[in-house]
Amino acid sequence: METILIESGYYSHLFNDDPVRPHLTEEFRLSNNRLGLALIDNHNCKAAVCIAISNEVPTNEIELDEFSSDKTNIEKSIAIFYTIWSYDKGCGRKMLFNAVDWLQKNRPEIKRFVTLSPKNNMARNFHLKNGAKELSVNSDSLNFEYFI
Ligand SMILES: CC(C)(COP(=O)(O)OP(=O)(O)OC[C@H]1O[C@@H](n2cnc3c(N)ncnc32)[C@H](O)[C@@H]1OP(=O)(O)O)[C@@H](O)C(=O)NCCC(=O)NCCS
Repeated sequence: METILIESGYYSHLFNDDPVRPHLTEEFRLSNNRLGLALIDNHNCKAAVCIAISNEVPTNEIELDEFSSDKTNIEKSIAIFYTIWSYDKGCGRKMLFNAVDWLQKNRPEIKRFVTLSPKNNMARNFHLKNGAKELSVNSDSLNFEYFI
């Protein structure tokens, strides 16, 4: 399985499958300091994740937009995993750790790996089972942090 960088017209149709934040446009996901990665096995997608490179930990989508925007010149060293979805059991977990590896290789300025997750048991079980720590409980989201 390989981890690929999603680009406009190259696996970007996968964004249509995002069950967590279906309203976010391709333009949002691929602009400013944001990117998408996919786990591909023989041309089949097994999982996908969207990441924003941010200067603070956001608690909602407005902050996600603001903190990853080019408008602020503050150094951005926090990777925010703001949606992840899987097409095959176990591949969500593999996607997450492959994304961390990819970021460490390709974006060495990143120092922290944090999520902006929906406030539900699926997110909590998934991240706690993967070894993350619950960083904060917000009015309508959760943040988890992976200490790599
Ligand atoms: C969360 C998700 C990415 C996990 O992907 P995965 O690693 O391939 O998935 P798995 O089915 O192996 O689930 C891994 C763990 O997530 C948790 N989980 C998955 N589905 C769950 C559900 N419906 N309710 C509660 N916990 C759930 C469990 O802890 C599960 O471990 P278990 O099977 O030993 O109980 C996948 O379930 C998914 O695509 N969910 C829909 C999208 C979503 O809500 N993403 C946001 C999560 S932060």
